Amino acid sequence: MSHGAPLDPAIFGPAPARDARFVVRERWTEMENFPAEDPRHPLEFLHRQMNEEVNSLEISARNLADFPDADWALRLSMARQCWDEARHVVMFRRCFEARGGRVGDYPVLNFQYRIITSLPGLAGRLAVQNRSFEAAGIDAINDGLGEARGSGQQDLVELLDAQLADEVQHVRFANEWVPRMVDRGGARATFALVQAVARADGAMREVAGAAMTTYPVAEDIRREAGFSEAEIATVRRITAGQ
Ligand SMILES: [Fe+2]
Ligand SMILES: [Fe+2]
Repeated sequence: MSHGAPLDPAIFGPAPARDARFVVRERWTEMENFPAEDPRHPLEFLHRQMNEEVNSLEISARNLADFPDADWALRLSMARQCWDEARHVVMFRRCFEARGGRVGDYPVLNFQYRIITSLPGLAGRLAVQNRSFEAAGIDAINDGLGEARGSGQQDLVELLDAQLADEVQHVRFANEWVPRMVDRGGARATFALVQAVARADGAMREVAGAAMTTYPVAEDIRREAGFSEAEIATVRRITAGQ
């Protein structure tokens, strides 16, 4: 079931399948945006995040299926990512259900899958999913880890700690492979990459509107994930709104 106007099919691919338990929404404003003090707020977060991990699994699986001729080592990294994301889904579900939630209690968003699988090239998909969405995820997880420690939620601390270690690997392999693929493809590949990132930016604005959230930049962890000092400085500037 959808709610609100459909997303632009020129920049959003078909939606992934969801069974009858799920209500699917398209934009952040169409979600149940509970205030922070509402007891449903943390539950809705865990449920939304669980489905985002399903998106990550589905994207990596689609990359494997759509690019059978990619380098074997890269395919292996994407297959490992599928395994990691599947574990993340289970971990989020466990924490969600331990707090009394039931799958399907809240609407979900599938914009990640729809934005990324509509991009035609593998370098573009990895640049957007791994080097952008998941890198932003590193900042968010690192921030959430501090909160979970502060509130003494040990199961969440363990989840986020394990998830963070995995996400660093996902960002890192993209940081290794994207420049390599662009080098091989020359100017045409560079142009395609810039086009993919710009298109995903536009799509993201359609989903998030003015509600984009940023977290403090986890500089050391981004360094560990293979970002250069110049790239970290750029993210720091963007996050500071400069
Ligand atoms: Fe994940
Ligand atoms: Fe990931």
